[in-house]
Amino acid sequence: MIKQSTVDQILAAAQVEDVIGDYVNLKRRGSNLLGLCPFHNEKTPSFTVSPSKNLFKCFGCGIGGSPVTFLMEHESFTYPEALRHLAKKYNIKIEEEQQSQEHLEEQKHKESLLIINQMASQFFVDQLSTEEGRSIGLSYFKHRGLLESTLEQFGLGYGPRDPKSFVNYATGQGYKLDLLTQLGLVSKSGYDFFRERVIFPFHNLSGKVIGFGGRILKENVKAPKYLNSPETPIYNKRQTLYGLYQAKKTIRQEGKCILVEGYMDVLSLHQNGISNAVASSGTSLTSEQVRLIKRFADEVLVLYDGDAAGQRAALRGLNLFLEFDVNVKLATLPDGHDPDTYVRELGSTAFSTYLDEHGQDFILLLAKNIVRDHKNDPVQKSVAIRELVDSIALIGNQIKRAVYTKECATILDIDESSLIKEANKVIRKTIQRKQLQRPRDTKPVPQKHIDFDPNEDHSQGIRAIVDDTDYQERDIIRVLFTDGTKKHSSEEDLSVAEYVLANLHGVIELVKDPLCKEILIEYQAELEKERVPDQQHWLSHENENVRRMAVDLLSDKWTYADWSKRGLELQTQKPIEENFVKDSYQVIMRYKLKKINERIQEIKALFDKQEDESRDILLITAYQRLLQDRQQLAGELGVTVF
Ligand code: UTP
Ligand code: MN
Repeated sequence: MIKQSTVDQILAAAQVEDVIGDYVNLKRRGSNLLGLCPFHNEKTPSFTVSPSKNLFKCFGCGIGGSPVTFLMEHESFTYPEALRHLAKKYNIKIEEEQQSQEHLEEQKHKESLLIINQMASQFFVDQLSTEEGRSIGLSYFKHRGLLESTLEQFGLGYGPRDPKSFVNYATGQGYKLDLLTQLGLVSKSGYDFFRERVIFPFHNLSGKVIGFGGRILKENVKAPKYLNSPETPIYNKRQTLYGLYQAKKTIRQEGKCILVEGYMDVLSLHQNGISNAVASSGTSLTSEQVRLIKRFADEVLVLYDGDAAGQRAALRGLNLFLEFDVNVKLATLPDGHDPDTYVRELGSTAFSTYLDEHGQDFILLLAKNIVRDHKNDPVQKSVAIRELVDSIALIGNQIKRAVYTKECATILDIDESSLIKEANKVIRKTIQRKQLQRPRDTKPVPQKHIDFDPNEDHSQGIRAIVDDTDYQERDIIRVLFTDGTKKHSSEEDLSVAEYVLANLHGVIELVKDPLCKEILIEYQAELEKERVPDQQHWLSHENENVRRMAVDLLSDKWTYADWSKRGLELQTQKPIEENFVKDSYQVIMRYKLKKINERIQEIKALFDKQEDESRDILLITAYQRLLQDRQQLAGELGVTVF
């Protein structure tokens, strides 16, 4: 592991305009630099680099971060890889730290597995040029219409008929049998696992081979059509999407990913110029896979073939996309076709047009299907509407949800307000469930009926139940990250961080978001050592989630408009960056107001269970005091309490 002192040295040296300048043509624009975003297609530059903040941010696609994040995203480097790259660029000598023996060995073990897979992959590729390989493997690929260039790009190969050819070769080269077995390349009884099959290697995001799929060549044989590598320390099928390594660049550029079912579909589409296709590989979609896609794009087009029953199950899987805020469209292919056969029949242009014309929004499609399938059956119809409502309720964004509710109501020809009511019920239940799952070390929170919420639009029927995302907590962290090191008051030589933490004394325990809490506790510890952690500290934090939060919050500041849109009106029109003293005061007040509200609700819930005369007098007093405090806080913040 790289020593922290070296890491600090690298981070201090890395200048964002310098690092990005190696990849992007940047032009000066005021105090910032501007260029065309390398992460999505654009004609007018919205990719902004700020030397003073040492951050970049694309206002087109939203990606942003430090020089290190840039390299991680652009080059698919891991964090240490990016650091090493920078060290080289700036001629910094890397000092390594002793790692725990266990960790080192695990690392080494994984590396050996990757090396063996690399060797095996080359073996399978080489077999395509043997006599057997040419007449069986290569001719199969040709018969499926694949070009040499596609075989090469995806590293396709062939596992020969002789049941010992690979194991003999590999052990002859000195590779250990037990590792070959662990990787599933050789069976327990010592035979090759992939025999007389064409081979599809699986890659991780940096292009290393982590496993294989092997397709049988004969039709109508009892053996399974595909054999896949078992799960190993380097291969986890829940976290793998076939073709993502080859597709990720296009996916990012187009902001869109095409999801298909089979390896063959991915290959055919790529060969026909549709190079943003990936496959979930026979398993049903996992949340890990959705998260992976979300790293590269916000939109997915799903191309599932198959019978109606299979499709209904598949449709349910798509709810995952809604949960992760990925827009999802669905295109159905004509009967009897899969993406592979259909793209070859139509050719790439007509196929793309087909997708454009037939891609239907997932939610609206569900609604249309209800009208189509249950026209005359009110019972089934209402069951189906329930399912639809469950899907709508997964959409976290309130505005998006409102739009969908409205459109679905029109399609279904039912009253919009009843759909809203149903959706809110589901959302409330989900929140409750989530609260029950809250880790034990945090305080239980009563079921909330929000009295005060600046996000709430009272002119409409939709209550902002889901937007109750505890933004107050993140808001505190935002102020700390952006202005923590600034001087809060010159007389007392107090930093903003010290001011905020002093005011949160005793209430940090109540912070619900584990990440926010962790950060606050770290602030406390650092301040005790008389250190005020700066932006760099958080941007290069060892915890990836902290790093991500830092990027998010630090670039949010650039778009003050977003904050005011969210209803977080400050009492002044000055942008936050010129007003951090007031800002830091208000985030604390908003947080406290929120906590008071929660406590009031808690007590109210207790009261509801009791008769007037049996109410605890102490509790009543506390309650009244809370109401007064709330009134006062609200007054200071200039908000109304309902
Ligand atoms: P398909 O049967 O549609 O395969 O299964 P395909 O890729 O289109 O192959 P061709 O066109 O018949 O040659 C879809 C996916 O399901 C997984 C594979 O990932 C396959 O690509 N699968 C299927 C298995 O893992 N094992 C099997 O036995 C069958
Ligand atoms: Mn197929």
